[in-house]
Amino acid sequence: MQITREVFDGVLDYLGQHFEVSSNQDDRPYTPTELAQALTDKQGALTVLTDRIDEALLAHCPQLKAVCNIAVGYNNFDLKAMSARGVVGTNTPGVLDAATADFTWALILASARRLTEAEAWLRAGEWQGWKLKQFLGMDVQGATLGIVGMGRIGQAVAKRARGFDMPVLYYNRTRLAPALERECNARHATLDVLLAQSDIVTLHTPYSADSHHLIGAAQLAQMKKTAILIHAARGGVVDDAALIAALNNGTIAAAGLDVFENEPKFNPEFLKLRNVVLAPHIASATTNTRRNMAMLAARNLVAALAGERPPNLLNPDALK
Ligand code: DGY
Repeated sequence: MQITREVFDGVLDYLGQHFEVSSNQDDRPYTPTELAQALTDKQGALTVLTDRIDEALLAHCPQLKAVCNIAVGYNNFDLKAMSARGVVGTNTPGVLDAATADFTWALILASARRLTEAEAWLRAGEWQGWKLKQFLGMDVQGATLGIVGMGRIGQAVAKRARGFDMPVLYYNRTRLAPALERECNARHATLDVLLAQSDIVTLHTPYSADSHHLIGAAQLAQMKKTAILIHAARGGVVDDAALIAALNNGTIAAAGLDVFENEPKFNPEFLKLRNVVLAPHIASATTNTRRNMAMLAARNLVAALAGERPPNLLNPDALK
């Protein structure tokens, strides 16, 4: 089997007990051609979100039986093409909910209180003394939080809002059961109502053709001028060019972003804006969480190649 990027030693050891392992501990991302070459004679792979598994690759990898993503998102998989070739795909749900929700709150607080802007100013030696009106931000306590995508991570974000006494609205294709709504202290709303009424809008919806540019110029125009947009879901859910325009012309007040279109070559116009907090796709990046994600992917691979149903199977059709 092939591991496409660097993993923790414990994961290497575990996989080594089951398979002959080819690793990439140098961590240099493979080009699509290199990835196809690396997987051409392999039965299984541990992949990351930048490894595209599609028909063009699968055509070169006749022995491949299972591809296990070290990520909850799996928009790098063409599941239809994988199922057609009997290749099982898995992801890592659950183990990253807390870390991702915590980081969402880091973005909320940093954006509302202008933390990175103030730090950059301080580091540049600009601080001459205390002023009553210095770096005035927005109150988070009591603000209305709008959560778009109320899966496990959205729910974890909602539960953390209790400490800030925030009314919580959520938009999700399927409404939560009443008991879960109560647990999350959240009220279901349409996207239009959520955008119009929220002071902070946070996105937790997976990327797919359906969610492509879910938040674009029209949706940003529906938000309050004082509102903040938080995005730690997947590049492509937001139209980044439209967001840059909205941040430039005051359509919304600020944004906190962990993900971008075309990572890592994101739109450089973001760097010119002071009202945006930027992070390099690290919402799940705690040592324990990343270790657990890689280990869960490895367990899925061991099960799949043993002919068992892997715990986080994405395409049951592949088993038919
Ligand atoms: C995921 O798991 O999909 C994240 O984006 C990577 O941590």
